[in-house]
Amino acid sequence: DWNMADIADEFIKEVRELVGPEGQVIGAVSGGVDSSVAAVLLQKAIGDRFHAVLVDNGLLRKNEAVEVVSRLKEKLGINLHCVDAKDRFLTLLDGCTDPESKRKIIGKTFIHVFQEEAERIGKVDFLLQGTLYPDVIESISYKGPSATIKSHHNVGGLPDTMHLKLIEPLRELFKDEVRSLGMALGMDEFSVWRHPFPGPGLAIRCLAPLSEENLSMAREADAIMIEELNRANVYRDIGQAFAVLLPVKSVGVMGDCRTYEKVCAIRCVQTTDYMTADWYHMPYEVLGRISNRIINEVRGINRVTYDISSKPPATIEWE
Ligand code: XMP
Repeated sequence: DWNMADIADEFIKEVRELVGPEGQVIGAVSGGVDSSVAAVLLQKAIGDRFHAVLVDNGLLRKNEAVEVVSRLKEKLGINLHCVDAKDRFLTLLDGCTDPESKRKIIGKTFIHVFQEEAERIGKVDFLLQGTLYPDVIESISYKGPSATIKSHHNVGGLPDTMHLKLIEPLRELFKDEVRSLGMALGMDEFSVWRHPFPGPGLAIRCLAPLSEENLSMAREADAIMIEELNRANVYRDIGQAFAVLLPVKSVGVMGDCRTYEKVCAIRCVQTTDYMTADWYHMPYEVLGRISNRIINEVRGINRVTYDISSKPPATIEWE
């Protein structure tokens, strides 16, 4: 509507003033709502002086890198470079099972790759972050014990030696306002209503020792589930949905043969703020279709379970 369009213009003006006529900005995009809206805003404000970086860490969802490039670069004209760092991440993560080690390796490697990219671009003055108001509040007030249970990282932790000034155009907005801003900036509904996806990606949804093969099972199962949720028109009723590959084998039967293969758990939650969540009461028919398809189409999985834990005491992710 016209009101949001005015607000979008106001945001664009503010970014221009802050960055100045020569300033160069770098920012990581993940395909998520926040970083995408921030990127579109910067593109509208300063064009190609904004350099978006997508790090393909090999832990993204099926076809994700290609689709993000298509949406952000081809459709929206963002100066985006996708760095293929799959081998680098997967080599370092090979065989890893400890959740915190995974996060540390992924966080550190991300920073290295991002920094190299900044050096390749040359003179950069600002670092764009898609921080929202709730993130600001959380980082001020949140010192709970789970800070040590899970280290939630995003881009934070870039070395001071980069001398970058921070630009956080969304830091006064709530999620629903970011979505409206995205729409006013010309983004499609699909992009602004996507479920959040964690930085460490499929690595924390694959509880079996990390390997290309295990990650690929988690990725295929995830893709099938999301496809069926969309087909059943329930994607928007759910806050987050994903498949978890368990490090457990169970006996099954296929034709005349006995199988001994992995178990996959699927998790769908409803939540307003991701601090608490309830399991989604999924229609049985949809559950049945997801289970059948995963077992029939993903080699190596012969059993599917549905996670009916609430947060708290469980968390949304399994790791
Ligand atoms: P939990 O599992 O703590 O998750 O209930 C709450 C929300 O945070 C996301 N999450 C992460 N996001 N890096 C991220 O960028 C992380 O390490 C991470 N761990 C959890 C999770 O997907 C959910 O939306």
